[in-house]
Amino acid sequence: MDLMKLLESRRSYRRFDQSRPVPAKAINDMALALRWSASAGNLQPLRCVFVTDPEIAEAIFPHTHFAAYLPKELGTPKPGEHPVMYVVLTYEKKTKWTDTDAGIALSNLTLAAWGHGVGSCILDNIDRPEIAALLHILDGVTIHSAVALGYPTHTSKIVDQKAPGDVKYYLDNQKNYMVPKRPFSEFIFENRYPEA
Ligand SMILES: Cc1cc2nc3c(=O)[nH]c(=O)nc-3n(C[C@H](O)[C@H](O)[C@H](O)COP(=O)(O)O)c2cc1C
Repeated sequence: MDLMKLLESRRSYRRFDQSRPVPAKAINDMALALRWSASAGNLQPLRCVFVTDPEIAEAIFPHTHFAAYLPKELGTPKPGEHPVMYVVLTYEKKTKWTDTDAGIALSNLTLAAWGHGVGSCILDNIDRPEIAALLHILDGVTIHSAVALGYPTHTSKIVDQKAPGDVKYYLDNQKNYMVPKRPFSEFIFENRYPEA
């Protein structure tokens, strides 16, 4: 897929075809994309647990929280729509670069997945202690974030904001996501920062 198309269509997906596992080729490319990520000082501080076992993925699901802007019955995937795979990012020692390194890794990972048509949702709203226990994550290792993955069963489209400050995604009448993004004039400035 053309890079700009990939960037435009790599949205957050929150309902998946649970009968369709993520194929090995996509998983390998996600691993490569993580390996190729930039990190401050090339310190490569992140470790990632790839959860591909359906039983472990199902055990993780209750400890994830989707679509805070939507009522639970609309935003939370139902049985049959759950993610089929997760990648859980961890680090040992938090530095001032950890979040930047993680952001780059998350971007690489989700784009590599989407290149294979595998949709994703980055998750910060997760129950870390419960997930750490399920994955046998060692004491002293912290979960940064997780990514839910699978083949999406909905679409997601960028739309213009209806009013300034309108950031809440919503569903259309087919239950597809509509994601408002700011106009360029609000956040891209030429040569100098605008006056207050
Ligand atoms: C750091 C971060 C944490 C996020 N955590 C969650 C989450 O816990 N649950 C969720 O449903 N979406 C989560 N998202 C997805 C955002 O809601 C989503 O990126 C945003 O609504 C814009 O949609 P888009 O990704 O399609 O552009 C997170 C995204 C980021 C970058």
